[in-house]
Amino acid sequence: MEVDGIVEDMPSTSQVLLPQIAQERFDRLQARTASIGVIGLGYVGLPLSLLFSEAGFKVTGFDIDARKVADLEAGRSYIYRIPSTEIQAARQQGFSATSDFVRLSEQDAIIMCVPTPLTKHREPDLSYVVNTTKSVAPWICEGQLVVLESTTYPGTTDELMIPLLEAGNTQGLKVQCKGLPAEHGVFYVAFSPEREDPGNVTVARRDIPKVVGGHESVATELAATLYEGIFTRSVRVSSTRVAEMTKLLENIYRCVNIALVNELKLLSLRMGVDIWEVIDAASSKPFGFHPFYPGPGLGGHCIPIDPFYLSWKAKEYDFSTRFIELAGEVNEAMPTHVVQSVTEALNQHKKAMNGSRILMLGMAYKKDIDDLRESPSLTVIELLREAGAEVLYNDPYFPTVGRGRRYNLNMTCTPLDHLEQYDCVLIMTDHSDYNYDEIVSQSQLVVDSRNATKGIQSTKIVRC
Ligand SMILES: NC(=O)c1ccc[n+]([C@@H]2O[C@H](COP(=O)([O-])OP(=O)(O)OC[C@H]3O[C@@H](n4cnc5c(N)ncnc54)[C@H](O)[C@@H]3O)[C@@H](O)[C@H]2O)c1
Repeated sequence: MEVDGIVEDMPSTSQVLLPQIAQERFDRLQARTASIGVIGLGYVGLPLSLLFSEAGFKVTGFDIDARKVADLEAGRSYIYRIPSTEIQAARQQGFSATSDFVRLSEQDAIIMCVPTPLTKHREPDLSYVVNTTKSVAPWICEGQLVVLESTTYPGTTDELMIPLLEAGNTQGLKVQCKGLPAEHGVFYVAFSPEREDPGNVTVARRDIPKVVGGHESVATELAATLYEGIFTRSVRVSSTRVAEMTKLLENIYRCVNIALVNELKLLSLRMGVDIWEVIDAASSKPFGFHPFYPGPGLGGHCIPIDPFYLSWKAKEYDFSTRFIELAGEVNEAMPTHVVQSVTEALNQHKKAMNGSRILMLGMAYKKDIDDLRESPSLTVIELLREAGAEVLYNDPYFPTVGRGRRYNLNMTCTPLDHLEQYDCVLIMTDHSDYNYDEIVSQSQLVVDSRNATKGIQSTKIVRC
């Protein structure tokens, strides 16, 4: 049962021997009377808190960002797709937000959803996981379940988190290890990756199966029961490492396939073949093909980052993850390709990039969302400015763009009118709100990195 791999016949509850300290928490989780603490109230943690609250659990959100805590306490949302009314409904259900970690000791289960970015040398930055774990450790109680949801390399939960939780625990509690469950003096640890697809309205979040892997079987049982309170189905795996690796496989699969179509797009452009038409045609195959689409570069918190967590860890095993490195190389070159395409398109109009006025449509890294983390638009703005262009932007999801971890733009959204005044309108994000027919008809030149102008015939359009 403890082999690595998805375990179809993982023991059902009746087969797992639960000691009394776990049984009490288990019963409360099953009855949805358990108290749940969610640490990190961002894009993952806040919707997760709301799902638990909606299902009847008593939820407390923890965040070091005092502004987020104040907003939530006042019933205000700071995430575009979450209306404030949902926060207010959760508040009525008993949801509260706090920066006071003392309240962790009241929780039956604690879920950590903190960032896992890369350092400027593109290595895993686990400082958020480390700092959060250190803040959690003093408040851990016997029988509590601690789950990490942040995407990371296999081994993080075992090698990094558990030793910190044990070392910082003033009561001297230890994690339950494989073998006979202890009756006292232990807590439980599991890993369960977040699989949300922001902006995807085709699958309800609760219908996305939740993968859970405990440090041992009691933790798996508790974590699966916890998530079965809000998700239609959980998928139990045999270890935290399998659960950690599952998330990375999913994201590496996307990263590598996007790189493949990005590379084929570059070739198709030279050959005069429409890659989007090719992908549509290939998608008619009812088996063995899943469509991925080219674009101006990777964005978001996951795909541009997570694969490098694995390639970094692989070095410890003298292993080179060549697919990941190659995909990274291809995908990271896409913003430069977009800028070259704008330069060539302006040249066709007898204009230079230096001194041109460019309106960029879309800051978000993908359509219909308010997330610009790692967005290729940020890199493209930088490259266009370096080449001497004046860049303005429009994005219905971002009235302003200020400062982030890696940028300081201080820009304000430009209205979508008088498009004829720009030397080039550059489509970076294919938001559904845009009327592409009107955009093309009003503009002098449109460079389209997303095939947003599909079906529109005009010599003004350059697809890149
Ligand atoms: N955003 C997504 O769609 C998505 C999807 C799948 C997985 N993930 C993963 O989930 C994790 C969280 O991502 P996110 O998008 O929610 O990040 P986020 O930046 O939106 O939110 C993280 C929150 O954690 C808080 N935080 C940081 N340090 C803290 C600490 N020491 N104590 C308490 N709170 C702290 C921050 O203030 C912030 O509110 C990451 O590992 C990410 O890779 C994200």
